[in-house]
Amino acid sequence: MAKASLEKKPFDVARMFDAVGKRYDITNTVLSMGQDAHWRKRTRERLNLKPGEKVLDLAAGTAVSTVELAKSGAWCVACDFSQGMLAAGKDRDVPKVCGDGMQLPFPDNTFDAVTISYGLRNIYDFEAGLRELARVTKPGGRLAVAEFSTPVQPVLRVIYMKYLMRLLPAIAKVVSSNPESYVYLAETIRAWPDQETLARAIRRNGWQECGWQNLTFGIVALHSAVKPAATD
Ligand SMILES: C[S@@+](CC[C@H](N)C(=O)[O-])C[C@H]1O[C@@H](n2cnc3c(N)ncnc32)[C@H](O)[C@@H]1O
Repeated sequence: MAKASLEKKPFDVARMFDAVGKRYDITNTVLSMGQDAHWRKRTRERLNLKPGEKVLDLAAGTAVSTVELAKSGAWCVACDFSQGMLAAGKDRDVPKVCGDGMQLPFPDNTFDAVTISYGLRNIYDFEAGLRELARVTKPGGRLAVAEFSTPVQPVLRVIYMKYLMRLLPAIAKVVSSNPESYVYLAETIRAWPDQETLARAIRRNGWQECGWQNLTFGIVALHSAVKPAATD
């Protein structure tokens, strides 16, 4: 079975997710104790999407995040570089494109809104990914990033880290089609910047008005930002 390292070499990450696809959705729901659906709904609401808008869901995987966005009536495209993840979501009725977040297959200024859920942490150079997301967004367009983050309560933080490093990989052994990738999940969450540090990275890579909401006490943070309007 495939597991990428903290180096996050794109080929290794894509190969690892190829092996995760088959049981990805159910594993997510079990490991998040059903919170995943709530986090997805909050991401859709934060973007305030309108029917007819064009939306990119980057690192969409099985398109489970994209179908939630599409409930808004906006036109939402799923993009991911793992063919195995996209194939696992083949029955989901949204357009899907195989593409790399560091070199997106879309022209400049295409989308009204762009979003990435639990994907930015996996991108080899995530700051380059943020710049690429800004490139394909229209001036004034919106960004939402849902990602695992740092729980705000110190006691919860300690319990959560223990859950991540010990219990989560044990549960994944029973549920997932690639349990080793959940060791990678725990390691990458531990190494990921906290809320304020990620907000600073978003601001220096093509976005402004960046803020965030903590979901489930900061286990997940939902960052949002706006691409600066065009100036002539
Ligand atoms: C944890 S899954 C998230 C799937 C989905 N967005 C969700 O909310 O469940 C992370 C996804 O990021 C994708 N990914 C990682 N790096 C990528 C890159 N450079 N370009 C495109 N997709 C990437 C992986 O293939 C994987 O499907």
